Amino acid sequence: MPETLDDSLALALAAPHLGDGPATAEEIGDGNLNVVYRVSGGGRSVIVKHAPPYLKVVGDAWPLSQDRVRIEAEALALHGELAPDRVPALLAVDLDRAAMVLEDLRGHQVWRTQLVAGVHVTGVAEQMGRYCARTLLGTSDLLMDSADRKRLATRFVNPDLCAITEELVFTAPYTAAESNRVDDAAAELAASLRGDAAMRRAASQLLWEFRTRHEALIHGDLHTGSIMVADGDARVIDPEFAFIGPMGYDTGNVVANLAFSAIAHQELGDGFAGQVDEYLMDFWGALSEEVRLIWPEDHPWDEIFLSNLLEDSARYAATELVRRIVGLAHVVDIDSLPDASRLRAQHRAVAAARSLLLGPPVRSPHDLWSRATTEDVP
Ligand SMILES: Nc1ncnc2c1ncn2[C@@H]1O[C@H](COP(=O)(O)OP(=O)(O)OP(=O)(O)O)[C@@H](O)[C@H]1O
Ligand SMILES: [Mg+2]
Repeated sequence: MPETLDDSLALALAAPHLGDGPATAEEIGDGNLNVVYRVSGGGRSVIVKHAPPYLKVVGDAWPLSQDRVRIEAEALALHGELAPDRVPALLAVDLDRAAMVLEDLRGHQVWRTQLVAGVHVTGVAEQMGRYCARTLLGTSDLLMDSADRKRLATRFVNPDLCAITEELVFTAPYTAAESNRVDDAAAELAASLRGDAAMRRAASQLLWEFRTRHEALIHGDLHTGSIMVADGDARVIDPEFAFIGPMGYDTGNVVANLAFSAIAHQELGDGFAGQVDEYLMDFWGALSEEVRLIWPEDHPWDEIFLSNLLEDSARYAATELVRRIVGLAHVVDIDSLPDASRLRAQHRAVAAARSLLLGPPVRSPHDLWSRATTEDVP
């Protein structure tokens, strides 16, 4: 079994990528799964990310395959080729120690942090739209040679991390699972979901599609905490959930997490929600434009591709909206709101999810966004 990484191992892995002189390692990770160090020395710094053989927040009781390091490294490399400059550089991988060394995005911030603070960052939503188009189409049968595509699929079999999503996103929130976490004030809201047969059926249909639609190498956890930003520069981190799945899961995650931001700023009434509306339109506009640009010449263009992706995005956005309110992992955008508006925001997110999952298919990005962000509390 690979050893557990400690400071001295992090220093050793980072050493070839630092300048001369003494080096220091500092643990900076705020995540649930892995250990993340910043190692600095000789005027340079790198990130060392280590995957213990279990879920960091739970410990030995929830074992987790360390193969997630290989998956993350290979997905970073491939997505980085398809969408140059949109991921941190991968400097080294050490599978024996279940660790990798990454470019340190020192001047960047996690996008969610900037969204919560109401700080506008230029160009990022558009770059994310192009990133999605290029990574999703670029790893699909649309743009890959058929045999290469089949070989690719064998490299991204990711059962442990898919099991986490299957349970925490598509199953637990609609049941009385112990993993669920709900504010006391939102207990009724959670109970209404458990009793909602139509929502449970719709989530179960999406679970089926998540397991069976092998469309592209998706990131698998593309929320605004997996995107680091500086003005004019978006970088996608943490693709350890990558597997061959439905494209709309990635785009739906972006949509839902922007919707949380818009709902939160509407509740705060601080004027930033209009900026988030623009992000959504920039994201979808750039994605649509890039899809047309890279569409294969030998495949007749069909508008239906984009309308199907929009519909799927709406439905996966809905399951993300629900699970972040009543499931295990919440979002700080909503959790940081004052009590009364937090409860309203939670109701609105679930009402939006009901509209997106049970209402008529979305017809346009405007339709999607207005249903995701302006549903009244019933
Ligand atoms: N290349 C990087 N440059 C700078 N900071 C980084 C980099 N990669 C990660 N970080 C920081 O470390 C944090 C955790 O990283 P990451 O999300 O990859 O870890 P994780 O343990 O897989 O998290 P999760 O539990 O959310 O899956 C990020 O939120 C970010 O603040
Ligand atoms: Mg992670």
